Amino acid sequence: MFHVKRASDPAHALADVTVAPHPRVAASGAHCREPCRPSPFPTQHAPSDPCAPWQDRSHARTLASVDWPIRTARLVLRPFVVDDIEQTWLYRGREDVTTWTGSWLTSLEEWRIIAETGNGTVIGDFLIHVHDGWGQGGTDSALVAHQEAEIGWTVDPAYAGRGYASEVAQALVDLAFTGLAVRRVIANAFADNAPSIRIMEKIGMRRESFSLKDSLHKTRGWIDGVRYALLAEEYRGSDA
Ligand SMILES: CC(C)(COP(=O)(O)OP(=O)(O)OC[C@H]1O[C@@H](n2cnc3c(N)ncnc32)[C@H](O)[C@@H]1OP(=O)(O)O)[C@@H](O)C(=O)NCCC(=O)NCCS
Repeated sequence: MFHVKRASDPAHALADVTVAPHPRVAASGAHCREPCRPSPFPTQHAPSDPCAPWQDRSHARTLASVDWPIRTARLVLRPFVVDDIEQTWLYRGREDVTTWTGSWLTSLEEWRIIAETGNGTVIGDFLIHVHDGWGQGGTDSALVAHQEAEIGWTVDPAYAGRGYASEVAQALVDLAFTGLAVRRVIANAFADNAPSIRIMEKIGMRRESFSLKDSLHKTRGWIDGVRYALLAEEYRGSDA
């Protein structure tokens, strides 16, 4: 069931993002040191403290507070609305696309971002799903809240091979770390999805796991999966 609202009510559509616990992420305090990347996204932190979003979880932001739309070099990114269903289904229903996708939008917990050109042509839809990190029993749940974002991508085959997915994926990583202040970004794919894995590597993500026959595919049976990740300190170019 879709819980998204119509384009005529974008503020309402962004109102009720919830977060879900993630079972496999250990929480730890990120250590921040200069230089941090300047954030294009407004935060509640004092301008004199550009590293604060990674250190202080009390100001973690949600997608609802992002100043949409986000602009990349060639594209405009905005939240998915019901009116996008018909257009995106034209490519979302194709077998060469569904072969590699995992699921379809089920609630606002899985945010879909529409990417369109300057003239409004939709070229694809993207995922950014912020969820809680994992903390050992007895740790403060506030410290793991909104700690991790999963990102994903689907481009209309008519617009594939032009670098669009990589361009938006980078923008989503920027949003996750600078706008939403998560400490970790992850992406998953079937291990045979070479273009998707290439995107993860192009935007600097690190292969974190290769899982043997962990994923039941509609037509291929149990096949292998990969997970890539990037930590905030890696994004900032530091091992700190
Ligand atoms: C995967 C997908 C998003 C790529 O979109 P795109 O806009 O064409 O991606 P980009 O152009 O930004 O980058 C694709 C990269 O993969 C590379 N690539 C394409 N086919 C490849 C292959 N068979 N093997 C290795 N690399 C390949 C491209 O050369 C490019 O890398 P480069 O810039 O270094 O040349 C798109 O094909 C798609 O939607 N596929 C179906 C759905 C899907 O797989 N979603 C992801 C689920 S995890």
